[in-house]
Amino acid sequence: MKALVNTADGLVIKTAAEPIPTASQALVAVRAFSVNRGELALLAARTQDWRPGQDIAGVVVEPAADGSGPAAGARVVALVEDSGWAELAAVPTARLAELPDEVDIEQAAALPLAARTALNTIRLGGNLVGREVLITGATGGVGEFLVQLAVLSGARVTAVARPEAETHLRRIGASLVVPTVADTNSQYHLVVESVGGQILRDAIARTAPGATVVVLGTTSREKTPVDVYDFIGHEGVRLVNYMSYADSSPIDADLGVLVELLASKRLEINLGLCADWTQIDDALDGLRNRTFHGKAVLTI
Ligand SMILES: NC(=O)c1ccc[n+]([C@@H]2O[C@H](COP(=O)([O-])OP(=O)(O)OC[C@H]3O[C@@H](n4cnc5c(N)ncnc54)[C@H](OP(=O)(O)O)[C@@H]3O)[C@@H](O)[C@H]2O)c1
Repeated sequence: MKALVNTADGLVIKTAAEPIPTASQALVAVRAFSVNRGELALLAARTQDWRPGQDIAGVVVEPAADGSGPAAGARVVALVEDSGWAELAAVPTARLAELPDEVDIEQAAALPLAARTALNTIRLGGNLVGREVLITGATGGVGEFLVQLAVLSGARVTAVARPEAETHLRRIGASLVVPTVADTNSQYHLVVESVGGQILRDAIARTAPGATVVVLGTTSREKTPVDVYDFIGHEGVRLVNYMSYADSSPIDADLGVLVELLASKRLEINLGLCADWTQIDDALDGLRNRTFHGKAVLTI
């Protein structure tokens, strides 16, 4: 089979050994995959024939020998740890969900890491009915899912994003779109913050007492100086980090929830880039330089 392999000369499509599934793994013919910002750092660090790839969608060619998971021929989406950017992947059945006819493979491939991260960070905010929620990095792969899932949960959402994204973000449910956190004056019950630096500090300054601030990423790479005096007027605010690799929520169930939302058109996916997998370098450059909004998907 062919697989994308990361070498000292960059990513190359090479012949690789076919995976041999364990009893609880299904063999999946991968048809599409998506790229995530965290993979940019992993690709820079792991150049010794590393096989990347977490978000995949495809067709089961060999069901798991232990009888778990879908039958041969089922269309599936999965979140794997690595090696997913390949023609074949061995996938633990606990990490995949079956796709109904209404969901395209390309759309499904955009879901796993970004949408599950959004789902479980929104859940950290508890009951959001009628609450104010602030989301930074709202045009990103995770951000667009955060906006939609917070709205579905009954929240009133403020999205922080560049002005040209306002029409799109309002269409997917944001009540207010602002270019910086400093332009808001609400008191937020939940903040989901992924940019870092002054933006995180400004967001803490707009929390209601007892609010939750989920720290998800530092896309700007800027450090945030915070001390106890930043919490005067914001007493009881809790800062919580989210790390997808440590998330104990069942992946198959989470993907099932997201697939159902997609199938029933309550969740939509913005494919900012969709191309053949030979265009992987262009997709990664676009992600690195933020030349598209939403998710990038590559097809095999
Ligand atoms: N902890 C976890 O488990 C986990 C899981 C997934 C992702 N993450 C992290 O979460 C972050 C978002 O991921 P993603 O996949 O959504 O990335 P993405 O698609 O690249 O989106 C990045 C978002 O941040 C905005 N942004 C970037 N630099 C900015 C800056 N200097 N100032 C203001 N806004 C800026 C972008 O706005 P523009 O549209 O204007 O460029 C975009 O909305 C990343 O840091 C990623 O590593 C963490």
